[in-house]
Amino acid sequence: MTQGYFITGTDTGVGKTIISVALMQYFKNQGKSVAAMKPVASGAIWKDGQLVNDDALFLQQSASEKLQYELVNPYVFEEPVSPNIAAKKHGATICLDRVLQNFSQLQEKFDMVIVEGVGGWLVPLDSKTDVSDLAKILKLPVIVVVAIRLGCINHARLTFSAINQADVPVAGWVANCVDPDLVELQENIQTIKKMVSAPLLSVFPYVPETNLNKIAGHFLF
Ligand SMILES: Nc1ncnc2c1ncn2[C@@H]1O[C@H](COP(=O)(O)OP(=O)(O)OP(=O)(O)O)[C@@H](O)[C@H]1O
Ligand SMILES: [Mg+2]
Repeated sequence: MTQGYFITGTDTGVGKTIISVALMQYFKNQGKSVAAMKPVASGAIWKDGQLVNDDALFLQQSASEKLQYELVNPYVFEEPVSPNIAAKKHGATICLDRVLQNFSQLQEKFDMVIVEGVGGWLVPLDSKTDVSDLAKILKLPVIVVVAIRLGCINHARLTFSAINQADVPVAGWVANCVDPDLVELQENIQTIKKMVSAPLLSVFPYVPETNLNKIAGHFLF
């Protein structure tokens, strides 16, 4: 059994955070201690003299014990833009070794560490690195969140085409039903299932309210 997963998606806003938190709850329900990271985040507000990002706060709060914010989210930018654009503006570079150090600290202490990427698989972090490099350095099996909405077949195929070119283990994908009114929802999922070699881990329902115990029940490992 792996000690963690790297959560990426077909786009920004596809449900990576909600799926990450549901996964954390799922493993907590199995009696495991769980932590999470959002190594790079853009879009943040100042709170008590510190820049904080919503996803990172949600992941921090969902851990089995209180974690330092910097450990969860070592790189945070205020502007809600691609990290490479924010990094350029601030003259910042993303040090993958720092991310790996934080991750190793968490991995020593917790049974399970869930790491959320930023945007999709090929989002640049700075002028040299992108999300795929994060997954590679952490050596975690990748879970792809596919938002089941119009255009998702193309997005899923493109994402898997890129992931399959990288030397990373793939755990599978999650069909996240973000649009309850989508025409032929099941056909969309079945089409992706046929075209993508990775296993379908969960058909995650539309959840108007975030009841964590309820949504954790949608995983089966
Ligand atoms: N299964 C679902 N049912 C209902 N709403 C959902 C579902 N999945 C995601 N959402 C909603 O879609 C929005 C985006 O979800 P989320 O923040 O998890 O995406 P993300 O991929 O983590 O985004 P980002 O790229 O900003 O990190 C949120 O408002 C979330 O509540
Ligand atoms: Mg998120």
